[in-house]
Amino acid sequence: MANSKKRVLSGIRATGRLHLGNYLGMVKGMIGLQESKEYEPFFMVADLHAMTTPYDPESLRRNVREVVLDYLAAGLNPEKASVFVQSLVREHVELAYLFSTVVSIARLSHLPTYKEKVKQYPENNTLALLYYPVLMASDILLYKTQALPVGDDQLPHLEIAREIAKKMNEKYGTDFPEPQQMKTEGHYVPSLTGEGKMSKSVEGSYINLTDSLEEIKRKLAKVPTDSGTQRGSIPEIGGVRSLYVFYKLYFPDDFEELFEKPYKSGRIRYDTIKNSLAERIYNELVPIQEKRRVLEAKPEHVDKVLIDGAEKARKIAQLTLEEVKEKMGLK
Ligand code: TRP
Repeated sequence: MANSKKRVLSGIRATGRLHLGNYLGMVKGMIGLQESKEYEPFFMVADLHAMTTPYDPESLRRNVREVVLDYLAAGLNPEKASVFVQSLVREHVELAYLFSTVVSIARLSHLPTYKEKVKQYPENNTLALLYYPVLMASDILLYKTQALPVGDDQLPHLEIAREIAKKMNEKYGTDFPEPQQMKTEGHYVPSLTGEGKMSKSVEGSYINLTDSLEEIKRKLAKVPTDSGTQRGSIPEIGGVRSLYVFYKLYFPDDFEELFEKPYKSGRIRYDTIKNSLAERIYNELVPIQEKRRVLEAKPEHVDKVLIDGAEKARKIAQLTLEEVKEKMGLK
């Protein structure tokens, strides 16, 4: 029976094409899960969340499509997983409203993610932005998701989802699980600038899944490094640390030999390191790029995937919503 499987859900804001951080931090982990018989994965394109920062309707429409293509090209299998667009399953918004009755404004306004966005877009300090984590809790709990492969940057949001689950269970006797992070191999993918994580909103920080080998080389060439004659342990922050994290991900068996040792003895050659890294990354992206080209030529196939995905998601979402409405006194 399908519902004896554990549901896992993840989503990406529809603000553009996926980058390597999204892929390593989430998509790759989910692809692993879809092959296991234990899990039932849901992949969502968060179009409503994309409206919490300044956007234009035409780009939003295009970006939803870009994310779906990237998801499918990266290997999500719609036969095994449900791929859907958030706004097409209306229950997300309705449950979020019900959840908003158990979350305080103070709690939400102190979240680091909220504060950062307000700083970034001071003209856009909207109610929708404040409400972001409530909608995300709804995305997660509608499917009674227990574990999610999300990046570390999402942990404050996950904490809100847990608090909501707990409050709802205490107050209304629902049975929401308290969702946990499922750590993927790439749960923290650093920025190419050497500061913070890879992010679409930071120019020069990311590699796109559609980048050519030349582009990847060009981007890696810009990662700031030291003179290469330093000795001692690898720095905790900065460009050298970013390269090191990537090296570990892409050369799991020989990063000590190829990176750590030469660094420690002051003989590291960053141009060699960067070139071999660019090639490994590109090799992983080639099949994704090929599949994307095939999918781009089959828009009806993509439409069908989204219709089926929304239908599968809606079935479960409706059950949860009905249950919550009843328990909260709406029925
Ligand atoms: N906040 C997530 C991000 O910025 C996107 C997201 C929206 C999400 N709803 C979700 C992730 C539900 C996991 C589960 O990447």
